[in-house]
Amino acid sequence: MLKIGIILGSVRQGRNGEAVANWTLDFANKRNDADVEYELVDLADYNLPFLGAEIPETQQAEAEKAIKAWSEKIASFDGYIIIAPEYNHAIGGALKNALDYLNPEVNNKAAGFVGYGSLGGTRAHENLRLILGELQVADVRTAVTFSLLADFENFSVFKPADYHEANATEMFNQVIAWSKALKTVRG
Ligand SMILES: Cc1cc2nc3c(=O)[nH]c(=O)nc-3n(C[C@H](O)[C@H](O)[C@H](O)COP(=O)(O)O)c2cc1C
Repeated sequence: MLKIGIILGSVRQGRNGEAVANWTLDFANKRNDADVEYELVDLADYNLPFLGAEIPETQQAEAEKAIKAWSEKIASFDGYIIIAPEYNHAIGGALKNALDYLNPEVNNKAAGFVGYGSLGGTRAHENLRLILGELQVADVRTAVTFSLLADFENFSVFKPADYHEANATEMFNQVIAWSKALKTVRG
């Protein structure tokens, strides 16, 4: 069984990411991939502290629990589909902070991207490729790029155009193929 985590990389209140993540999970489940299990991981459920920041003693146990839960959840997957909004031509701070907690958990695994922004989140994707290179994650070429102008009404109601499904199919195929292949590298 191949396990793929769909990571919702925005914690902003009123985030568009939730609708995009639900679309992606729905798309994943409709594929009926044999021997592949998909799970949505919402960054907002983890309440991670900023890496290295001082934590009041009364909150330390809770923070440690959140960090451990995040690390173990991410380690449990063979590959990832990362839902990444674009903030100032990069990924958002919450996602960067969450990624900074990881390293061995993601080494020699595969990832694909679903982005959104005025240009489909493409600059966030390129930023993510640099970060994942350092984390030894193999990110696939094809990405899904939802436009805030064309795929959302009033920049907030998600109405994705049908043509994104072709890219999503290609991206999922690539992530599954590389996730399977990299399992053999991890032994
Ligand atoms: C601080 C901030 C910076 C942003 N910078 C960009 C940007 O550089 N390029 C872009 O396409 N969209 C940008 N946006 C728009 C976001 O991509 C858009 O609001 C998106 O819905 C954010 O994801 P979320 O709703 O899931 O938090 C920015 C939004 C915020 C709040």
